[in-house]
Parts: sequence; C-alpha cells; structure tokens
Amino acid sequence: MSYYNQQQPPVGVPPPQGYPPEGYSKDAYPPPGYPQQGYPPQGYPQQGYPPPQYAPQYGAPPPQQQQQQSSSTGLMQGCCVVELYGCATFGFDISILVNSTPIPLLTPYKMGRFNLSHRVVMPPMTRNRSYNNTPQPHAIEYYAQRATKGGFLISESASASDISQGSPNMPGIWTEDQKEAWKPIVDSVHSKGGIFFCQIWHPGRISNSRLNNWWFLWTNAAAPHDGACVEPTLRQLSTCELAHIVDDFRIAARNAIEAGFDGVEINSANSYIIEQFFNDQVNDRSDEYGGSIENRCRFALEVIGAIVNEIGGDRVGIKLGKKDSNPEALLTYLASQLTKLGVLYLHVFEPRDEPRNNCLQFIRKSFEGTLIASGGYNKNEGDVAISENCADLVSFGRLFLANPDLPKRFEVNGPLNKHDRSTFYKNDPIVGYTDYPSLQLEFA
Ligand SMILES: Cc1cc2nc3c(=O)[nH]c(=O)nc-3n(C[C@H](O)[C@H](O)[C@H](O)COP(=O)(O)O)c2cc1C
Repeated sequence: MSYYNQQQPPVGVPPPQGYPPEGYSKDAYPPPGYPQQGYPPQGYPQQGYPPPQYAPQYGAPPPQQQQQQSSSTGLMQGCCVVELYGCATFGFDISILVNSTPIPLLTPYKMGRFNLSHRVVMPPMTRNRSYNNTPQPHAIEYYAQRATKGGFLISESASASDISQGSPNMPGIWTEDQKEAWKPIVDSVHSKGGIFFCQIWHPGRISNSRLNNWWFLWTNAAAPHDGACVEPTLRQLSTCELAHIVDDFRIAARNAIEAGFDGVEINSANSYIIEQFFNDQVNDRSDEYGGSIENRCRFALEVIGAIVNEIGGDRVGIKLGKKDSNPEALLTYLASQLTKLGVLYLHVFEPRDEPRNNCLQFIRKSFEGTLIASGGYNKNEGDVAISENCADLVSFGRLFLANPDLPKRFEVNGPLNKHDRSTFYKNDPIVGYTDYPSLQLEFA
C-alpha cells in the first residue's frame, strides 16, 4: 500500500497460495490423508468438491435436502428425539411435547430491521482455515451447518487490510478476491434463512510484523500485552496513520456489504487495536487520543462513525470487552455515544471467571440498541439473562463451534458435543471444523 512506509520486505515462510494449499491434491477432495469416507456428508453431491453446480470457484449454496435444521416434522427428527427420551418412534416432532413452556432463548426478537426467530447467536470465532487470507469453500459448509431460519451469525474476524493481520490463514475483506470468496459463504447462510454479519478487526500491537509486510503496528510504547507476538519494536502510530486505519475499516465494511453480509461487527474487544486505545493501562499517549475517557474513545468513534456513514448504523454492531481500570465510566460514555450514532447492537464479552452481567447493567442504561451477552454462558444461564432482561440475545462460542445445531439441541434439551480445543485453530478443512455431528447424524 503506497501510503505505508514499509520497513523491510516480507521474509520467512510464505503462506500457502490458493486452494487447495500446497501439497494437497489439486484434483480430488478431500485431500490425501483426510478421511475419504463420509465426505461430503450424506445429502451432498458425492461427485467432486466443490460440487459442479457451484460457480467457477465456489458458487451456490448446498442443496436444500442436506439442511439439518428443518422446521418441518419428519421421521428423522422424530427418531432423534425418540433416542433421547426413550419413547416410541413417531413420525412427528415430539420436541413440542417435551417443551410445553417457551424457552426464553428460543423466543423471537426484532433487532432493528432483522426478525430473529430465536436468541441463540453464533459469535465470531477465528478458525485459521482461510489459506492465503482468502475464505475457502469449506467455510460454505461450516457456516451453513450453523445457520437456521431467523438465526443470527457473526463471521470469524476478517482483517481490515494487509497490515491488520493477527495470525496466518485468517480471512481478509480488503481485496476483490476476498470479497468474491465470501459471497458463496454468505449465500449459504442466507439460503437457510440466517442473518449474517462480518466481524472486522485490526489487532494493533498484538500481532507480528512479519504478517503485516513488516509494517510496525504498535499503538504506543507501553509494555507489550501478555501473550503478544511482539516483534520487533513498539512504536506509536501517528495521527496521520490513524486516519488511514479508519479508512481501512470503512472500506472493509463497504466490501462486506458488497459481499452480501447483512452488516458488520467491529471488534473493539480482546485487547485489539480499538481496545488498546480504550484501556488506560495500555494507552500512554499524550495527544488527543490518550488521557481522558473522551480521548481514549476518540479512535473508536472515528472508526465507527466512518462505518456508520458508509453503510448505516442499522447494519453496525460493536463487540466490547471491559479492559480498563474503570470500565463502568468508559463503557457508559461509549454506549451513550454509540446510541447517538444509531449503532444496532453491542456485543459485550465478559470473561467467564468474573462476575457476569456487571457491564450489561450499566450499558443497558445508556444504550438504546440491542444487547448481546457473551462469555461462558450455558443454556440455563442464557435463559436467565433473557428472562431477567439483562440481555436481548446471548452468544455461545465453544458450544456453537462443537454443536452445529445448537438451537435445536436447546429446544429438545439434547446432549451437547464437547469441543476439542486442539483443533480450534488447526488449518484442517474438515477436522474440528465441519465434522462435529448434528443430532440427526448422531442418532440416524
Ligand atoms: C476458537 C475461538 C475463536 C474466537 N475468535 C474470536 C474472534 O475472531 N473475534 C471475537 O470477537 N471473539 C472471538 N472469540 C470469542 C467468542 O466470540 C466469544 O465471545 C466467546 O467464545 C464466548 O465464550 P464461550 O465460548 O464460553 O461462549 C473466539 C472464541 C473461540 C472459542
């Protein structure tokens, strides 16, 4: 990018080019070494992958008959519930007999222009399977498996630019090719009636300059974040550079909408660039981006303001954490500013080991949009959060990762698959990704 003063040429092992990655068979799918049986799953075209009817590279979503979240009644669904509850086999949906009182998480909710049929949200989850920063065909199936009619899904973090990469094989949303590659993935969610937002991020100093064309990303000169791959030097971004990053976010949001996403979520949590500005224990700037709460929120409000102008506040959500010495004061100010900008929702992540709903309570008072709770919830805790009006929606990360049909499992009180942490970020196109069984496959 011409306006960035690159320090050195990229070195090290280049990321795999294209798809399939180097070393994988170009003619057959799955690649050698991967299970040849049972893929594609039953109901999918068995000849080749991607199926021939897909557009040149990727294309149309999988056919209707493989959908697992059928709202109609059927023997398969009846059998599955029979297995769970030990009743006789009936060709109808006996889950309606099991759940006679409404489950709060499964009640409908109107989020701005979007009519949600339930409140079980799939949050953004990085999976590191986008070779060469390009979303891949296997993501079509991954997201389609988790989509339901009227369900709300948020994509894994997508980098806003070629200098905002946090780890290899994360998708981007800054080039035309990446935009094109997202389209069939978005289509697959839409074909199941899901609502799909793209999460956009910039890691700031929690990155590695090797991934970012040796561009030095640091927001300030403070000590590195614990766990950060800091390399090699910290330096403070100039205000001119900040303006470029704001523009990168704006363009990425425009690209997401052009790829077909219903909206975008800006990752302002997890100690990435925006939260690095919020956090008074990290931000040591002495200019108008450091010091007071208003100053520390300035960069976020510039980014979000630019995106709202570009695509409209009714298509913008913000993910927030609570990293600051006084999160109540910071988040109260921020929430009132985001209300003024007409932001659609706030997605609030509270770590599992800290008291829940703390932030939600004071954000609720100053934010008029939708509130999504996140952080270690199980079904019962989610139901309580909804019924006590602490949140409007609840996101379930690891549970959704391991249970593609999570809303159905909540509906029938079905058993839950356990996640396998060792495959969260494995680059495999199947293992730990699309091979978690649904109830239908488990009990078929
Ligand atoms: C494998 C994995 C990857 C994640 N990647 C992201 C991400 O890209 N962006 C983000 O905002 N949060 C990310 N998260 C956090 C989730 O969005 C969510 O807030 C968190 O998992 C909620 O806790 P839970 O898994 O106990 O439900 C990730 C979580 C997991 C488990």
